[in-house]
Amino acid sequence: AAIKKYQFDIKVKNVSRLCHAKPIVTVNGRFPGPTIYVIEGDRVIVNVTNHAQYNISIHWHGLKQYRNGWADGPAYITQCPIQTGNSYTYDFNVTGQRGTLWWHAHILWLRATVYGAIVIMPKQGTSYPFPRPSMEVNILLGEWWHTDVEEVEKQGISMGLPPNMSNAHTINGKPGPLFPCSEKHTFAMQVESGKTYLLRIINAALNDELFFSISGHNMTVVEVDAVYTKPFTTPSVLIAPGQTTNVLVQANQIPGRYFMATRPFIDAPIPVDNKTATGILQYKGIPNTVLPLLPQLPAPNDTEFAMSYVRKLRSLNTPQFPANVPIKADRKLFYTVGFAKDSCPTCVNGTRILASLNNISFVMPQIGLLQAHYFNKTGVFKTDFPDKPPTPFNYTGAPLTASLRTVHGTRLSRIPFNSTVELVLQDTNLLTVESHPFHLHGYNFFVLGTGIGNFDPVKDPAKYNLVDPIERNTVGVPTGGWTAIRFRADNPGVWFFHCHLELHTGWGLKTAFLVEDGPGQDQSILPPPNDLPPC
Ligand code: C2O
Repeated sequence: AAIKKYQFDIKVKNVSRLCHAKPIVTVNGRFPGPTIYVIEGDRVIVNVTNHAQYNISIHWHGLKQYRNGWADGPAYITQCPIQTGNSYTYDFNVTGQRGTLWWHAHILWLRATVYGAIVIMPKQGTSYPFPRPSMEVNILLGEWWHTDVEEVEKQGISMGLPPNMSNAHTINGKPGPLFPCSEKHTFAMQVESGKTYLLRIINAALNDELFFSISGHNMTVVEVDAVYTKPFTTPSVLIAPGQTTNVLVQANQIPGRYFMATRPFIDAPIPVDNKTATGILQYKGIPNTVLPLLPQLPAPNDTEFAMSYVRKLRSLNTPQFPANVPIKADRKLFYTVGFAKDSCPTCVNGTRILASLNNISFVMPQIGLLQAHYFNKTGVFKTDFPDKPPTPFNYTGAPLTASLRTVHGTRLSRIPFNSTVELVLQDTNLLTVESHPFHLHGYNFFVLGTGIGNFDPVKDPAKYNLVDPIERNTVGVPTGGWTAIRFRADNPGVWFFHCHLELHTGWGLKTAFLVEDGPGQDQSILPPPNDLPPC
């Protein structure tokens, strides 16, 4: 194992897209930011120095950070933000994981421009469970706003207004030639006939679940969230914010130029598609003058495609890469995912939108929860997060306007070390209809099942996949439906759990799990590093 060192300088830089220039927050002046390359087993040391006028923290999305929440990154959960002029060193080991993950700013909406890929190669002497590709390419899907993202966020959160939609989607920071002034902001990759390519697709968008396709070419999915899958072939990939998907693409079509394209699955509240990003797959020797063809993408709100796609995702589950699904659950949790209206005297209509789990809208603390827990500081949070909603009701049949009393609180679930947790996330029809990609820090979980309508506590568990369910760190909860996950709580710490749609996170769609220390010597939270930022 090696030590890989990186320096991340957070600085503001003028970047122009769609005929407008604006200052954005970047790492080392790059957009998207630099890729972290490691080999499974390596230790990674990233020194982050903040030269910008914004407080910042960086999250290594999907890395488990065993006993080491100090390196996880979410502001006010595992650390206080790095203030202007200060530095913090994230120091962590990459063990037991290989594949594609990513990193992003984890405070306010800064991740709009502060993100990059993490590529973990299999450890020396091991190989991929699929034929070695000729070349590997990172495909980071994102969003671009004309306006300052902090302004957009303020509007969405404090003002109670729905936020402006982003102006374009992007592929590796580039919207592609369908947008004005964007010919030079087009991502292109060259391929050679007969060769196979590995695309590491990352959805870094703030608020959109995305389809991705390449005209004329099928893709074979081989990995999601740094977990190998049973390979399957598909014309389109569905990928939620926070998720990663590795696909193999064969250059097996008539040599030419082909568009790759990405656009939202559901662009709630109103499906619009004026921001499809495109890039180009170009066969060697084909001139740039040849016009590319647009791919067929599933229609917006194509729930049928989404459901059948999601059901094809299975863990590889071979002796080398077994799916160790916990067979029983020690603790069963049932969380409703919903919206509510809150009175807000300073807002335009006197109300604003809140989002809640079990009718609790999470309130961000003033200091990091992990510090509060580690140093036994009282009064920062409570561990009384309810295991189920206050009242059961017809979750998906309730009228959109029905409102349940939502309370505010910094409330966590306390989980004994090594217990197995099953969590059913039930979307409700309150106020608006949307799907939610939920992300758990510090863990992967198994996705035992998903369905449309109300979760049936008898019939649905009987159909759980306990053999080869997909294992991942971010999962979609379908609109008006449910998703059941299970994990073994073997990583002590305080772990954020939230919807990865940034708007919803801001509205309070989040909580955290406090996983207790185990009895063993190496089963407790490591001591914090000396340079942990103060609040
Ligand atoms: Cu990628 Cu807490 O997030």
